[in-house]
Amino acid sequence: MITLVVGMQWGDEGKAKVIDLLASSYDYVVRYQGGANAGHTVVVDDKKFIFHLLPSGLMNPSAIVVVGNGVVIDIDQLFDEIQSLENLGFPVRNRVIISDKAHVVMEYHKIIDSLREKASPKKIGTTSRGIGPCYEDKISRRGIRISDIVNLEVNQLAKKIETFAQEKVFLMKNLYNYDYDFNALKLAESCKSKFESLGVEVRNTEILLNREINSGKSVLFEGAQGILLDIDFGTYPYVTSSNASSSGVSTGTGVSLKKVDNVIGIVKSYTTRVGEGPFPTEQDNDIGQEIRNKGGEFGATTGRPRRCGWLDLPLLRYSSIVGGITEIFLTKIDVLSDLDEIKVCTDYSIDGEIFDMPPFMDPQTLYSVKPIYKTFKGWKKKLSDVKKFEDFPKEAIAYIDFIQQSLNVPITYVSVGPERHQTVILK
Ligand code: GDP
Ligand code: IMO
Ligand code: MG
Repeated sequence: MITLVVGMQWGDEGKAKVIDLLASSYDYVVRYQGGANAGHTVVVDDKKFIFHLLPSGLMNPSAIVVVGNGVVIDIDQLFDEIQSLENLGFPVRNRVIISDKAHVVMEYHKIIDSLREKASPKKIGTTSRGIGPCYEDKISRRGIRISDIVNLEVNQLAKKIETFAQEKVFLMKNLYNYDYDFNALKLAESCKSKFESLGVEVRNTEILLNREINSGKSVLFEGAQGILLDIDFGTYPYVTSSNASSSGVSTGTGVSLKKVDNVIGIVKSYTTRVGEGPFPTEQDNDIGQEIRNKGGEFGATTGRPRRCGWLDLPLLRYSSIVGGITEIFLTKIDVLSDLDEIKVCTDYSIDGEIFDMPPFMDPQTLYSVKPIYKTFKGWKKKLSDVKKFEDFPKEAIAYIDFIQQSLNVPITYVSVGPERHQTVILK
C-alpha cells in the first residue's frame, strides 16, 4: 500500500498525529518537501515531540524513515533532532536514510531569509529557517547538496560554498547593511563534521524507494505544510517555497504519483494560518481567541500565535481537486466543544455573484470575497473520549456529515485528541 498524507489547509492540520498513528502499518515513512519550517507534533503517552525535518513515524520502532531529494536539510537542526530523540530513548541512527540529492540549508540562507523579512514592507511572515533562499539556490543551480557534503574534500566544498554564496554575501553587505563574518572553510568544515558524526545513511533514495515498492513494500508519504501553502497552487506570494501539494511526491522522491494508492487529506475542523496573507474566514475576535486557547494554536516551529477562523469549504473544494484527495481525516473536532454555535463558510460572494470555489487564488480576489456561512448548533459535550461514530452527539454528526457531503469525499477518520487512541475510525 502506498499512501500519501497531505494537509489541505495552511499547515498544522495535525498531519504528524496521523503519520504517527498509521506508521506502524508501513515499511517506510518518507518526507518529500519543505524543511525545518515544518513543526510536526507527536504525542505518545502524554509525552510530546516536535519533528521538524525527520519524518514523524520515528516513534514507531519498526518504521524506516527516508528524507527525500525534495527536502531542504538544515544540518544543525538534523543534529539536534536526532540527539533529542535518542536522549528520549528512541533509536534513530540506523533507521534514517537521506537522499544524496537533498539540498542543504546553509547559514547564509537563514540570515538572508531574516534580513528580507525585516526589510520588506510586504512581509510573508516566514519561519526564518532559510527555506525560500535555499530553494532559490536549488532552482538557479547554486545549491549545496548532501552529495557535496559527503563526497567533496573539505577544501573543494569550501570553494563551492565560496562561489555559490558570493551573491548573498554581497546583498547582505550592500543591500541590508549587514556585517556577515563569512568564512567558507569554516562552514565547509562544520557541515562536513556535523553531518558525518550523525552516522545516517546517504542513498540514491529514488532507486531505493522504487525498488522497494516494486518488491511489495509499503510506503507512507508525509506532506509538510499544506496545499494552500503550495508554491504553485497556494495563496501566492503568501506561501512556502515548495510543492506542498500531492504533486511534490513525484519531484521530491522520484516515485511516480501513479504508484500512490490513496491520498489522505488532513482537515482541521476549523482553519488556522501562521504568517501573513488572505484568510477569508478569519475570526480576529473573541471566538478566534477561544479557538486558539482551546486548540493550543501556537506555532510548533516559531511559537507565534496562529490566526484562527471557521472552516472554509470553497478553499477545501479547491484543495481537494488539486491534491487528488481520496479520503479525509478530520482533526481537532474536540476543540469546538464549548462553542454555542459553529459556522462553516459554504460559498463566497463577490460583487453579488456566488462561487463555491475561489475563482482565482490571488490575494486581490481572496481579500475581496465575502464568506457565506451556515450556522450549526454547538454540541457542548466533551468529545475526547469518543470511540465510535455513533457515540458522537447528534450535532457533531451533523457537522461531520455536512463537511463530507459538501466536499464529496468520504471522511474516514475523526480525531478527538492528540494521542493515537483518540481517533474514531469511520470505515
Ligand atoms: P502538523 O504540522 O500538521 O503536524 O500539526 P502541528 O503539530 O503543527 O499542530 C497540530 C497540534 O494539534 C499538535 O499540537 C497536535 O498534538 C494537536 N492535535 C492533533 N490532533 C488533535 C486533535 O484531534 N485534538 C486536539 N485537541 N489536538 C490535536
Ligand atoms: P507544518 O508542516 C504552518 C508558513 C509560514 C509563512 C509561509 C512561508 O508544520 O504544517 P517559509 O518559512 O516556509 O518560507 O514560510 O509558510 N509555514 C507554515 N505554516 N505550518 C507549517 O508547516 C509551515 N511552514 C511554513 O508561517 O506564512
Ligand atoms: Mg505544524
